[in-house]
Amino acid sequence: MNVEADTSEGALWQRANRHLVRYGYSFQSAIIEKAHGAFMTTTDGRRLLDFASGQMSAILGHSHPEITAVIREQAGELVHLYSQLLSREVIDLAEALARIAPGSLERVMLLSTGGEANEAALRMARTATGGFEVLGLSRSWHGVTQGAASATYNSSRHGHGPAVPGSFVLAAPTPYRPRFMKGDEYDWIGELDYGFELFDRQSSGSAAALIVEPILSSGGVIVPPEGYLREVAARARKRGMLVVVDEAQTGLGRTGRMFDCEHDGLVPDIVTLSKTLGAGLALSAVLTTPEIEDRCFERGFHFYTTHASDPLPAAVGLKVVEIILRDKLAERARVAGARLRSGFETLMQRYEVIGDVRGRGLLMGVEMVKDRRTKEPAPELAGRIMNRCLELGMSTSVVRGGWGVFRIAPPIVITDDELDLGLTIFEQALRESV
Ligand SMILES: Cc1ncc(COP(=O)(O)O)c(C=O)c1O
Repeated sequence: MNVEADTSEGALWQRANRHLVRYGYSFQSAIIEKAHGAFMTTTDGRRLLDFASGQMSAILGHSHPEITAVIREQAGELVHLYSQLLSREVIDLAEALARIAPGSLERVMLLSTGGEANEAALRMARTATGGFEVLGLSRSWHGVTQGAASATYNSSRHGHGPAVPGSFVLAAPTPYRPRFMKGDEYDWIGELDYGFELFDRQSSGSAAALIVEPILSSGGVIVPPEGYLREVAARARKRGMLVVVDEAQTGLGRTGRMFDCEHDGLVPDIVTLSKTLGAGLALSAVLTTPEIEDRCFERGFHFYTTHASDPLPAAVGLKVVEIILRDKLAERARVAGARLRSGFETLMQRYEVIGDVRGRGLLMGVEMVKDRRTKEPAPELAGRIMNRCLELGMSTSVVRGGWGVFRIAPPIVITDDELDLGLTIFEQALRESV
């Protein structure tokens, strides 16, 4: 086998096409050699500004020197253990998360991916309540493992067989295109009344959990109206559900607070963290209260994985939390987010095809439309702009679902100059694509 001979881009693509499984859309037309800070470098030497933080995880930018140092040091000391053996790193991270979490979410389980953390959270809710029904929002993304995927409604289910029994959907709030109106106002209370009426008619009375993202990120960066999270949680609790908040994309500073659900004053029963916690490494966490954890333990809660409580990712997570707190990066995300928003709002004044600019902190949605009045989505245009951005030197992402919404989420350590560069590239790509 002679695979090392030709290292040109063309040869790399040939080998990629021959050997890689296509697990989603087609791969983008760049192969990355290295990445530092907010920039990646391709194998043919081009620099790309990363306005997507990798897969929403590189919150501290790429190869942050302190994270790199922790990985190097920890790799030489302690990487992985039998899942029932503990290490100092795991205990330290659990304590650090308990300290910053809302309410009394003091018990922590460390896993690897977001889907896995949600899978564990839902299993925990089922064990604690004795119920099995799970209610999720119609524009949600919680992962691709069976339990998490069954509560995910913003991903194609075609061809993948049945969802878990007891999976129920609630219409996601859609402030930009409200379906329920009272006078000129979005009537999200009326929408919730209707959604819960449908749930009550279908439920067998065995509710276990409501699972929500505080901002529906993959579903189009939808920010629920103020008070929505508290209201939906209250209604769920009335029906015996535990409230699970999935902070995969929003957690640890990106939206201006350590936990985004704090913006609406919601204290969940279970919180999951993933993407941002490892800042690029596979690390996730489930946080819950002592009461729920005790009840689960008594009832034989079981969620045993190979990489549960691994020391190396835990050491990284600990450093991530330390840096975000020490460098006041949540505050920085708020300030940088205001600059980015104002940049996109200026573009919106110039270009009719930008229908909406929304989000919080450094998690923004920019929605492209064919017509501002009808709000008809423009996903093809969004795709063209995204491809042109890549040619011009910036990686950004359009969420799935055919709405034409850009999810703009650079690392929260990004500088003002880099933000302005991103806006300049976006404008040029937009101008050349309409
Ligand atoms: C809100 C949310 N939860 C969970 C997940 C799943 O995480 P993972 O892909 O690490 O399993 C994602 C992934 O995009 C996500 O956005």
